[in-house]
Amino acid sequence: MDTYNLRQDYTKNILIEEHISDNPFTQFNNWFQDCIDNKLPEPYAMSLATVDKNNCPHVRTVLMRNFSERGLHFFTNYASAKGQDLLVNNKAEVLFFWQALERQVRINGLVHKLDYAQSQDYFSQRPFASQISAIISPQSRIIENRHELEKEYSKAANHYSTDNLPNCPDFWGGYCLVPDYFEFWQGRASRLHDRIAYQRDSKSKQIENWNVFRLAP
Ligand SMILES: Cc1cc2nc3c(=O)[nH]c(=O)nc-3n(C[C@H](O)[C@H](O)[C@H](O)COP(=O)(O)O)c2cc1C
Repeated sequence: MDTYNLRQDYTKNILIEEHISDNPFTQFNNWFQDCIDNKLPEPYAMSLATVDKNNCPHVRTVLMRNFSERGLHFFTNYASAKGQDLLVNNKAEVLFFWQALERQVRINGLVHKLDYAQSQDYFSQRPFASQISAIISPQSRIIENRHELEKEYSKAANHYSTDNLPNCPDFWGGYCLVPDYFEFWQGRASRLHDRIAYQRDSKSKQIENWNVFRLAP
């Protein structure tokens, strides 16, 4: 099978220097608000790329749970494959593909763990069933079969209750990706897409200083 004849031209929006913010966080916020206004499904879902100890890249979807100038938060099992990758190499990239708006955003930076209190705070706001799943799932490990997983789930769900809620386990919690680089991509007609990038100015003492440039599509 090939997809040579499946193609779409992108004509919905433009991204030009006159309209962008000097600050990539504001620019991201503006585009994220467009996703909300246009009712995109799960615009906070992002592909997270990490690299393992053998320099092999891995990518998977996670949910962005918070975004501010301090960074992007996501939550996961620290003992998972991605957790192992981040232990040996804390450089990562995330990617949002907002197809309905013909937009893509790439954000690159260093990742650090959130402190336990922040993880507990988020964990306590998750639905009970999600809390139980996080506790019993040895994420990324080989398991015998689905039945074993459901057995562990039932055991834990019976042990805890709304009067006896679980705490966030120490193997589960949040990470924060602190952006050093953003690229905003807007699909345009005839494959002449817009790409505007922001690179953090590492020489600048002011943390909010960014070099802005246009990339060829
Ligand atoms: C829409 C969507 C959202 C997801 N959100 C998360 C998430 O927030 N945290 C997480 O650990 N896994 C999430 N997953 C599952 C991951 O993609 C992945 O299967 C899991 O984290 C194990 O990845 P790893 O083995 O590379 O560590 C999500 C998957 C999808 C499709």
